[in-house]
Amino acid sequence: MKRPHALLLMVSLAMVTQACFGASRTGLSPLVTELLGRMSLEEKVGQMTQISLELVCKGYPLTREPLEIDPESLRRALLEYHVGSILNVGSSAHTVQRWQELITTIQDVATKETRLGIPVLYGIDAVHGAGYTLGATLFPQHVGMAATWNPDLVHKEGQVTAYEVRACGIPWNFSPVLDIGRQPLWPRLWETFGEDPYLASVMARAYVRGLQGEDNCVNGADRVAACAKHYLGYSFPLTGKDRTPAWIPERMLREYFLPPFQAAVEAGVKTVMVNSSEINGIPIHASPYHLRDLLRGELGFSGVIVSDWADIKNLHERERVAASPKEAVRLAVMAGVDMSMVPLDYSFYDLLLELVREGAVPESRIDEAVGRILQLKEELGLFQDPYPPVENAKRFACAAHRQSALQAAWESITLLKNSGNLLPLSPGVKILVTGPTAHKRSSLNGGWTITWQGDREELYPKDTPTILEAIQAAAGREIVSFAPGVEVNREVDIKAAVAAARKADVVIACLGEDPYCETPGNISELTLPEPQLRLVAALAETKVPVVLVLVEGRPRIITSIADKAKAILMAYLPGAQGGQAVADILFGKVNPSGKLPITYPRACNDLTLYDHKYSENANSFNRYNPLFPFGFGLSYTSFAYRDLVLDKDRMRRGDSLSVSVTIQNTGKRAGKEVVQLYLSDLYASVTPSVRRLKRFAKVELGPGEERTVRFTLREADLSFIGPDNRPVVEPGEFAVRVGDLEKVFVFE
Ligand code: BGC
Repeated sequence: MKRPHALLLMVSLAMVTQACFGASRTGLSPLVTELLGRMSLEEKVGQMTQISLELVCKGYPLTREPLEIDPESLRRALLEYHVGSILNVGSSAHTVQRWQELITTIQDVATKETRLGIPVLYGIDAVHGAGYTLGATLFPQHVGMAATWNPDLVHKEGQVTAYEVRACGIPWNFSPVLDIGRQPLWPRLWETFGEDPYLASVMARAYVRGLQGEDNCVNGADRVAACAKHYLGYSFPLTGKDRTPAWIPERMLREYFLPPFQAAVEAGVKTVMVNSSEINGIPIHASPYHLRDLLRGELGFSGVIVSDWADIKNLHERERVAASPKEAVRLAVMAGVDMSMVPLDYSFYDLLLELVREGAVPESRIDEAVGRILQLKEELGLFQDPYPPVENAKRFACAAHRQSALQAAWESITLLKNSGNLLPLSPGVKILVTGPTAHKRSSLNGGWTITWQGDREELYPKDTPTILEAIQAAAGREIVSFAPGVEVNREVDIKAAVAAARKADVVIACLGEDPYCETPGNISELTLPEPQLRLVAALAETKVPVVLVLVEGRPRIITSIADKAKAILMAYLPGAQGGQAVADILFGKVNPSGKLPITYPRACNDLTLYDHKYSENANSFNRYNPLFPFGFGLSYTSFAYRDLVLDKDRMRRGDSLSVSVTIQNTGKRAGKEVVQLYLSDLYASVTPSVRRLKRFAKVELGPGEERTVRFTLREADLSFIGPDNRPVVEPGEFAVRVGDLEKVFVFE
């Protein structure tokens, strides 16, 4: 096995037993303390500096493929600037072997040529599997994972991702996104676990544990450090445009946006990335309140806080709260940012050095940040062995991993409409496949896949089918025709698609979005682009039944065509196995069980969410009237609920309440149902929501089979953020709802 610098080896061997720390650690290990004591100011400031891979590659600033490290630039970064961390892919996805070579080259210089031999902490965005590695197992994007309502699958995704990312030699994943998806225009909605804080918190816990392991001992070949991002309030820009201001009152922030981060911290998440933008005029990168008081003080987070891309600079250049780049560095570091994702120059390093030398930033603050960074490196086992676990890459994209991704895609896909039980399709029906997402792998996967935007269709491995290919394989090529009709935003030949439809028994129209990521995905209109609406309207004229398959990262408005379609499947961004999964559901090999983790709006300007206030559903003028509500999803079988029982009708402080309900599969085939428990606080000092999700369980039942599901509610489940912005539980009546059943109890 390749080994690091001899000097460090002596220290680290003595400290091997220190390598695995639990989430509750408070101090630094002896190794880190000893190392810190020997570091120069320059070496420390370098540790806080994170650069992007392309900066040390040949050809920079032009991207060259295939990517090659420039030894001179790498030495400059590591020997002159003492850089502690590198991120990103450089150009486009690499093979595992190439990643291993790149990481080895970097760690060779870091550990053998620098004075102290401190290994580099490499970080990557692997948000639905190792998306920057060719051939990786690619799960549905997180909005789809949330639609499974199955935390075990999210946990599995974490485990598979950790294994495949670590196989590349990368120990740090910038995932999960724990922003709450309450603004459907926002181009990162698909990176979230949807609109509900409870669902997102359950998924946050499952995913962090999947990446980091139950014991948070991340020193292993199948573990990586997670990064909860983007703390806090990033997902709710008023305009819906990425990286624009959010206005979020403190009560709302704590009620909706904070809980998933709290869940991640409780699960032991090792790192947190900061919201690129601002809340109420305060950029979070410059906010001691959010970073120190709330995150560290209240939530008790003790890991590394990393900036988002260029966002310290942005305090000067974009947000304009700092009159100079240097002031921006001072503000961010003093607010609590430990590592700067600079990432394309060394300005942070130079400016921070100046600030410390001038006394504007105390060295104690530098020690605090560097201590955390080194501690993380130690916990990740990098001092013991910073190299890729070559012999451990064997399970990369193995059949079992891919099966998990397929299972997740199956369970995510949500049947929204099925008039006259058109689906599942009978064998032998003649099919026209049409629409812009029918034959594109990039549309199934979305951003952060192969490239940042995910749009290099030609680079996608062809070993998993598009929707068209999967339908052809399932039905037989001879009875499946294809005429795309339109591109996402442009008509190609609607007439040809209509002519083909006339010869078919059923039309499968695959609609949606081309891949996008972050700000380039901004839109000013939520409605599905006009050419796609025209395509479906024209197809419907033929009277041949139309099935819509929506491949999209946010709920594009389809109201004008929803009535024209006989069936609608929401596929979200189902990942590499998505084509297969859609076909399996269309033909009934799999019974759909996904439920919407977001509200699907009926109209662009009516974006009321499921947990709205009573005034928002008060009369025929103000109604929660989405096209499909949060939590909705059909099955090829039917379920009935009965016997909702509470173990008491009066609950006192400190009590818990047991709730049971019986669910029966009343149809003819096996299926999975998500039992959802909602709580309504009927009267409260802060206007209560009509309902809030509090528990859920996914159960599988054979035809006729029934099961009694039990939940326990605790006092904290009855709480809300009160008038003084603190959680409070108030006496009064509460209603428990499961399915169409309701029971009221009193809290006294
Ligand atoms: C995104 C982050 C991401 C980072 C590194 C930023 O632009 O907002 O989510 O982790 O880039 O790629």
